[in-house]
Amino acid sequence: MNNFKIEIAKLLSNKIDYLNQDEIYNMLEIPTNTEMGDFAFPCFKLAKELRKAPPIIAKEIKESLGESEIVERTENVNAYVNFFLNKMALVKSILSDVLEQKEYYGISQTKELGNIVIDYSSPNIAKPFHVGHLRSTVIGNSLYRIYEALGYKCVGVNHLGDWGTQFGKLIVAYKKYSSKEDVEEKGISELLRIYVLFHDEAKKYPEMEQEARDYFTKMENGDEEALALWNWFKSVSLKEFERVYDMLGVKFDSYNGEAFYNDKMSVVVKELEDKGLIEISEGAKIVRLDEENMPPCLITKNDGSSLYATRDITAAKYRKETYDFKKCIIVTALQQNLHFAQFFKVIEKMGYEWSKNLVHVPFGMVSMEGGKLSTRSGNVVFLEDILNESIQKTKKIIEEKNPDLLNKDEIAKQVGIGAVIFDDMYNNIIKDIQFSWERVLNFDGETGPYVQYTHARACSVLKKANINLNQIPQLDIDYSIISDEASIGVIKELAVFEQTIREAAHKYEPSYIARYAVDLAQAFNKFYHDNAILVEDHKVRDSRLAIVVAVKYVIKNALFLLGIEAPSQM
Ligand code: ARG
Repeated sequence: MNNFKIEIAKLLSNKIDYLNQDEIYNMLEIPTNTEMGDFAFPCFKLAKELRKAPPIIAKEIKESLGESEIVERTENVNAYVNFFLNKMALVKSILSDVLEQKEYYGISQTKELGNIVIDYSSPNIAKPFHVGHLRSTVIGNSLYRIYEALGYKCVGVNHLGDWGTQFGKLIVAYKKYSSKEDVEEKGISELLRIYVLFHDEAKKYPEMEQEARDYFTKMENGDEEALALWNWFKSVSLKEFERVYDMLGVKFDSYNGEAFYNDKMSVVVKELEDKGLIEISEGAKIVRLDEENMPPCLITKNDGSSLYATRDITAAKYRKETYDFKKCIIVTALQQNLHFAQFFKVIEKMGYEWSKNLVHVPFGMVSMEGGKLSTRSGNVVFLEDILNESIQKTKKIIEEKNPDLLNKDEIAKQVGIGAVIFDDMYNNIIKDIQFSWERVLNFDGETGPYVQYTHARACSVLKKANINLNQIPQLDIDYSIISDEASIGVIKELAVFEQTIREAAHKYEPSYIARYAVDLAQAFNKFYHDNAILVEDHKVRDSRLAIVVAVKYVIKNALFLLGIEAPSQM
């Protein structure tokens, strides 16, 4: 579709001297009402320069335009010039593009645009991996794929919360309330149990807090016993996190978490001091952000221990030095807004112009309907439980819908997990979500299963037609046959895929891809409903099959960008 837009901008720029092609390109609109054409050029902005009323300008432009292969006709309505594309040119160009590029349509094969660091998931060791971390994980994973599709090289970083006073608490709690056997047997839930217990008990015995702080200081000073325990807690937790990442199909290029910056922070604190940014307040080192109307950023506590922000500032510098990133994107819940605004500001004050390339991508909260989800402990919802429940529920649905399906378990997994991922990204990510099984697993709704089902439907048509996608399908296509509204509707969706990816990246919104996938699936289902595909006439049949092949690939690619599998049957 972009090529067409460029062509139209070129046509117009021949007629309008004082605007260049790019400016015109940016002014071109895609009318929501298809009766207004495929592109519309508004003439309001030209009025001042030409000293004429916009509708008159529009009329004159329309009359001056010559013939073009790609434009069927133009119309002038009020202050607009509307362009109606030559359908056959459009169909031919888009379909042959998709059929040629297939699984690479929209997905760049080179990574030459530079590095993008994406910090996502980043759960806290020994604290629950909850639905909020799921959002961070799937959004970050999707942004990773989206940016790579555009030609960047992404570095996925799991900035584990593996350092901080909570480990002092955990060590104290472990010594008082747990044992090696219990932790080995029960894993994170045991760590969580004693962590919660610590907080309850510390209310009664406040001296425990001091004990915990002392242990953390010991860790910071390299105490062997404390560090050995910490390391062990960390590996116990990681093992469980990795199980969830496997289920989700998510990978990281680096697990450099907060502890990794331990021996790198003092240099940064010194730099802050040398640059005159540090002020001492009640023994603590802080950077004032009064002018920015923000509370000060805490760099070290009065006992000298570091904080979340200290580690983040150090991490940002390390990442810039190591990866020379074009952008460093950090995906967390909206609640952390202030923290990021503060530490980005500190980096700016240190004189680093690249502070403008630090991006916080905030997302809204997920709450559980009626709080009725199976949980292993207290009111903490474990991610793994949700995924497993989704798989089970999906399996039931599949058993009803398609009892003869082979490998139901594998497909239930792909669909059950895909459904949860999709729901997390269907709306603008800043929005809160109320989790609802009814919505998430609705095969007819605007959901993951619906999109996957449409993909499976396309695959099944191809199978019936004996088309093996491992070979280049030899289709005898007559582009002029593809002219009905539903078919053109599909073509137009296919045409905007690349642009949608660019916009999703630009706005850090995987939801654009999710919505696109639903739009394409709906367009395809309308086409499928309106047109018989496997008909006698082989030109008609092949031309329509070409649409099916194209849709199959593009849905699969869109799902891929969301981190969702595309089973060929379900
Ligand atoms: N561990 C944090 C949490 O669970 C998220 C860390 C995000 N990344 C960062 N560089 N601060 O809330």
